[in-house]
Amino acid sequence: MPHLEMQALTRARARRGQPLRGVLDAPGDKSVSHRALILAALARGVTHITGLLTSDDVLATARAMEALGADISWPVSDANIWTVTGCAGLWSPPEAPLDFGNSGTGVRLTMGAVAGAGIPAVFTGDESLSSRPMRRVLDPLAQMGAASRSEDGRLPVTLEGGPLTGIDYAPPIASAQVKSAILLAGLGARGETVVRESRLTRNHTETMLGLFGAKVSTERDGDGAIIRLDGPQALTATDLIVPGDPSSAAFATVAALIRPGSDITLRNVMTNPARTGLYRVLERMGADISFTPAGMAAGEAVADMRVRASQLNAIDLEPDIAPDLIDEYPILAVACAFASGVSRLRGLAELRAKESDRLAATWNLLRANGVETEIAGDDLIIDGGGNVGGGAAVETEGDHRIAMASLVLGTVSGAAVTVDKAGMIATSYPGFIRDMKALGAMIEPLG
Ligand code: S3P
Repeated sequence: MPHLEMQALTRARARRGQPLRGVLDAPGDKSVSHRALILAALARGVTHITGLLTSDDVLATARAMEALGADISWPVSDANIWTVTGCAGLWSPPEAPLDFGNSGTGVRLTMGAVAGAGIPAVFTGDESLSSRPMRRVLDPLAQMGAASRSEDGRLPVTLEGGPLTGIDYAPPIASAQVKSAILLAGLGARGETVVRESRLTRNHTETMLGLFGAKVSTERDGDGAIIRLDGPQALTATDLIVPGDPSSAAFATVAALIRPGSDITLRNVMTNPARTGLYRVLERMGADISFTPAGMAAGEAVADMRVRASQLNAIDLEPDIAPDLIDEYPILAVACAFASGVSRLRGLAELRAKESDRLAATWNLLRANGVETEIAGDDLIIDGGGNVGGGAAVETEGDHRIAMASLVLGTVSGAAVTVDKAGMIATSYPGFIRDMKALGAMIEPLG
């Protein structure tokens, strides 16, 4: 198993330091990494995955794929090439519960794929994942014929197994996880599966299904899309390179923007518009970010991104952009704390269903560090531009993105900022402290 440098870490501290300088490879994309493992495990043949993100969340999915019958060889060299021998659609019922740790993407997508495979399985997770809603996936799967048992729609969940039939479904929330679970179930279902999304969400599942030889069609429909897939369909192994994660690159980006004199380059960042809402918003706020195209990876365009320190202005952000930066609100809120004027980030109800109540946790990380901030309904209001005192010991509520956003704030605030559970950063970005230090940031593990 790959070495996870942050697993044992408890606390970490960030202090104001020099301007950030240097060039970094963005870590592999988490969404693409989960999908690469799941599709490779379903496919016939051998898939090589280069640059898989070796974070705790993705490793939980890898273990689940092994438990379902895929043969996975974990890389032993720095080349980070994973080899997955798939099961040609024939997964076996796992002997033990599948434990997804902290990972919503891993558990929800695998539930869909397991339902499509027609086998029974039990799904578990850590405390945070066990408090998150699963009905959004279990309800449409039940309509397809996959009966399940759970208490109150939370983990542990038991899927009973059995044959599925395609459905025509309009998810009530904009969620790529829900869409993906239905499409993966649809692969094994009889007849057509249709997902009607009212607002576009990240489309990696559709793109990557195509790379594995499946036929999936997407038709734009107003602000959303209609995605269709005829089942059953078989997948064929294919080799993949994982693009860099724009959600992880967001932390160094904002750190460079708010530290005067900074000038950094982040290489191979995926530029899919459904993932880069943060960068469009930062540009509207006055950020100096330039993109140089750098090819394609896993069907996605990637670019090298140069970020220079910038004087940011506050923003009044419309709610309908939320799916394009759903994971980036904590770090955007930190940018707003350093922007002149009052920002209002609107329509953030969905943040309450993330790894923590991320709306409350973001408000708390700002407030604890001396920023004037308020939650009004589902909006977050941030009075920026003043001196951010810092000095807080932030309670991250076990949320990796709250931990990283807090540490970025600490690289510019008056006094040092500590976070209580820095080990959770390994769920999405195990190299975060190493990378930030390489750019010159003063972030230290405290053991
Ligand atoms: C993801 C979708 C989003 C996002 C998550 C990854 C995916 O979740 O927050 O980190 O890979 O499909 P929702 O579908 O719940 O919005």
